[in-house]
Amino acid sequence: MGSTTASLTLLAIVLVHCCGVTVLAQTIPSGCLYENGIFKCDYRFCTPLEPSMFDPSPQRLVIYNIDGGMNVSMFPSWNTMNNTGFDSNYDASLSLSCLQGGGLMELTSASFDGMDIWQNVDITNCEIPSLPSRAFSNFGTLNYFGIQGGKVDDVQANALTGLTVRRDPNSVSPSGELSIIDVEFPDDTFPVAFLSSQESVSTLTIHRAGLASVPSDFLSHMVNLTTLSLDNNEFTELPDTLFNNLKALTTLNAGGIHWDCTCEKLWWIEYVATHGMRITSEMLCYTPLSYYGQRTTIYYTNSCSKGLVCDDGSLPAVNLGDVTCLTYLQIFIYTLAVLGFMGMSAVGGCWLHTRRQLKRNGAGGGGGGGKSGFTPRRNRVAGAPGGGRAAPPGTKAGW
Ligand SMILES: *[C@@H]1O[C@H](CO)[C@@H](O)[C@H](O)[C@H]1NC(C)=O
Ligand SMILES: *[C@@H]1O[C@H](CO)[C@@H](O)[C@H](O)[C@H]1NC(C)=O
Ligand SMILES: *[C@@H]1O[C@H](CO)[C@@H](O)[C@H](O)[C@H]1NC(C)=O
Repeated sequence: MGSTTASLTLLAIVLVHCCGVTVLAQTIPSGCLYENGIFKCDYRFCTPLEPSMFDPSPQRLVIYNIDGGMNVSMFPSWNTMNNTGFDSNYDASLSLSCLQGGGLMELTSASFDGMDIWQNVDITNCEIPSLPSRAFSNFGTLNYFGIQGGKVDDVQANALTGLTVRRDPNSVSPSGELSIIDVEFPDDTFPVAFLSSQESVSTLTIHRAGLASVPSDFLSHMVNLTTLSLDNNEFTELPDTLFNNLKALTTLNAGGIHWDCTCEKLWWIEYVATHGMRITSEMLCYTPLSYYGQRTTIYYTNSCSKGLVCDDGSLPAVNLGDVTCLTYLQIFIYTLAVLGFMGMSAVGGCWLHTRRQLKRNGAGGGGGGGKSGFTPRRNRVAGAPGGGRAAPPGTKAGW
């Protein structure tokens, strides 16, 4: 079973033009399918798999049913991959998923040799016996890197060293996201400095990873981090130095956390308010019992009053002597209202003044000519007390 039988060549599409015949040859490795521009390969039947078996180049490659080594004998010669024919409407992406029910992904620091061609890589539902040091370094720089589902049995602190996750401006969707969702880690935590190599990440997503505590150095190098998302983990507080050094952070999500509400542990409420950040998830107290299920901000406002927290920081605001809290927008509107009121008063004053003057002029004129248009009105008013509803002229009813 040499590589000649391992790769199956198809003459798939024959296009007949008016002036000739164009033949588009597709070469699809055995164990793979080619659908809508995506190669889908079954690890059990496609390996060893190398880029020369594909035509066109596998710009979007899915390898599924993985259960074994990601090593150079299974994936040889990937440094020869030719990306000149890539379609700029798509990112070069590699999707790896393991055999259902506990497929293994065995990694070494030599895994993915030559595979620095991808922009986005994700790994789904794999049991990873060991994340050795530099496990993903052969990917080089990625626009997106995600691990979803599965578990990691053993992890080295420098497992992510050599991998750079950074927003790629040439990507179809530049993200710079490092995402770990639904993955079980040993001891429910990350090793110290696990993320310290990730200096260029823009979005860090760690959901349902069972994190029982957040190490204080967790984000210390992510100077460009804009979005931090830590939903549904087991920690109950954030270390109060967590955001030191973070100058770009604007969005914090940590829904589904059993927040332990104390003034000290809710330090981040004031931090978010004073740094123009926003929170886009439900942040509810779990303890103390009297605040169970209530917003952490309610606890903070009621119990930790260091003055007012203006509008949860969603709008820039000023605290007026702890009596009330006005956003700049409110101040602007109130100022307009006051100016408007003053304007109206001035107009009213002018009108009264004019009216009085006219009245004075009318009295001085001695019932004679006066100002036309004013005099008849006086006559009408003067006539009113006489007969309530004056009878229309010409109807002599009642007399
Ligand atoms: C590579 O992985 C395969 C499949 O798990 C395994 O049989 C083989 O021994 C590994 N080769 C090396 C050099 O580790
Ligand atoms: C890469 O592919 C392009 C067309 O897709 C081809 O013209 C070129 O010769 C290839 N380069 C190499 C080194 O194979
Ligand atoms: C942070 O972003 C700036 C501006 O995009 C960039 O110049 C810098 O290299 C980034 N820092 C890191 C560590 O990636």
